[in-house]
Amino acid sequence: MCGIVGYIGNRSAQDVLLGGLKRLEYRGYDSSGISVINSDDSKISTQKSPGKIALLESLLKKKPLSGTAGIAHSRWATHGAPNHINAHPHADCKKEISLVHNGIIENYESLKTSLIKEGHHFLSQTDTEVIVHLIEKFYKNNTSLEEAVRKSLKLLVGSFAIGVISIREPDTLIGARLGSPLIIGVGKDENFLASDVPAVLESTKEVIFLEENEMVVLNRDSLRISSLSGKEVSRDPVRISWDIAQAQKQGYKHFMLKEINEQPKIIENLLKLRIKGERVIFEEQKIPEEKLKKIKNISIVACGTAYHAGLVGKYIIESICSIPVSVDVSSEFRYRNLLLDKDTLVIAVSQSGETADTLAGIKEAKKYGARVLSICNVLGSSLTRESDGVIYTHAGPEMGVASTKAYTAQLMAFYFLAFYLAELRGVLPRKKIAQELIELKKIPHQQKDILKNQAAIATLARRHSHLGSFLYLGRHVNFPSALEGALKLKEISYIPAEGYAAGEMKHGPIALIDEYRAVVCISPDSHVYEKMVSNIQEIRARQGKIIAIASLGDEKLKEQVKEIIYIPKCPEIFSPLLVVLPLQLIAYHIAVKRGCDVDQPRNLAKSVTVE
Ligand code: AGP
Repeated sequence: MCGIVGYIGNRSAQDVLLGGLKRLEYRGYDSSGISVINSDDSKISTQKSPGKIALLESLLKKKPLSGTAGIAHSRWATHGAPNHINAHPHADCKKEISLVHNGIIENYESLKTSLIKEGHHFLSQTDTEVIVHLIEKFYKNNTSLEEAVRKSLKLLVGSFAIGVISIREPDTLIGARLGSPLIIGVGKDENFLASDVPAVLESTKEVIFLEENEMVVLNRDSLRISSLSGKEVSRDPVRISWDIAQAQKQGYKHFMLKEINEQPKIIENLLKLRIKGERVIFEEQKIPEEKLKKIKNISIVACGTAYHAGLVGKYIIESICSIPVSVDVSSEFRYRNLLLDKDTLVIAVSQSGETADTLAGIKEAKKYGARVLSICNVLGSSLTRESDGVIYTHAGPEMGVASTKAYTAQLMAFYFLAFYLAELRGVLPRKKIAQELIELKKIPHQQKDILKNQAAIATLARRHSHLGSFLYLGRHVNFPSALEGALKLKEISYIPAEGYAAGEMKHGPIALIDEYRAVVCISPDSHVYEKMVSNIQEIRARQGKIIAIASLGDEKLKEQVKEIIYIPKCPEIFSPLLVVLPLQLIAYHIAVKRGCDVDQPRNLAKSVTVE
């Protein structure tokens, strides 16, 4: 999730663009850059830098770029390491055009190959760079920049929001979008482009939201919107009433709620990125396939929510590709007698890639000759540098301390890895994998159906916000879901909450049941559904307050439970991807009702970089 800003007006483009980038920092940054059309219209000057936007700012202080039109970009890398050469903006061979991009170009390799054959010279490993060379290819003779952009975008498969300038048309700034957001800020004798509203709010509250398949040509005192096929579009600006802080949450009250609602889109993007035809692919995974074919067991190590993702990963891998899996919390893993060897694959799961116990754990593991594969959300983080292979979760920066979208992106990594290994090791025929992937592709839509019902879930949650403790029960692949639901609630509402394997009720927890405690029973359609129904009957008999999560169409539970949250039917193995949304929303709305600081809960940090 990158940040784009464009400006054309009469002020210093550098100052306006930097200010806009800073307001988009929550979208992630591992590198950034800026291009400005020089005030004498002689050339485009560009400055880029890896790292935080402050580093770019310090470079510009030493060597300012003068000009009143330009583009800028803060990168959250998907293709190519976060370094200077891969930072945007990217230029054509003749340095006459400069472009910034947010999105994923799925067919960039084939486009790059044909452009190189036509004599184009590429500098970076990014997918983005193919776009600016395509524009260069068409931008000749009497073709305008607008037409060259239009012709280029028609060849792209994937998602994009772009900003483009050229020294040949110094009074023009072009934007276009498909699958990634782009807005227009309408000023007085100046106009703006941005990925999101916060970037322009200090200059104007008049905003036009570009829609899918649309392009805009901006001049200082005019703008023209059209469809990518060239049809004129007229759209009036809307006046934004948010302040900057609200705008960074895109109108949501907290980052956590925004991130809960981002999950369908993130899974859609991952499905596009990881599935090619009927197969799962991982470009960035570097462990040789020959080694992966030979592993005899898997050891997963992680903390907190990532540990719960690892527990789900155990069920996923053992049921899809029949490899024995153990799962440890990192703080135990690193101190116990590890029975690992060269036939073990250690999988470290971490959103931040900086968790001290997890880093220490894999350092221990490598002493035994085990290969380490990390599932991580932060490109270039310590964990990724210590690992033999990496699967990035591409969830974008997670600002809420309580992990939500990173968790479901970690689960997706396990599903993709399981199908990848099942094919590689000949455990499942490609046809069977293709059928499973068809079901997996339904998940984003099913998540959206659940989120359409979030107001009712909020009301149900608030009804229980006064209770002093919660018990979460699940079985099989949703036993970890019970642990995750309990962690979400306790870490943001401070209510004692425990997750348990429902089959364990008789071995202790049933003593807790009374009318002062809520029991969340995770009971979607599954091979252990009847067992969950028995647990629910045991709880009812003891006046426990039951909240059930059940599959749409479940008539049986209606007779037993008053408070039911329904989720769409899906294959049992994929159900954690749906079950977790009500669990996240219950925790969120109870915490809000109790006046807790949802995004920064007391005593917690987003990344625990100390033991
Ligand atoms: C989860 O909501 C918590 N924020 C916490 O348990 C977190 O999952 C844990 O600290 C692990 O962090 P990591 O994924 O960055 O390694």
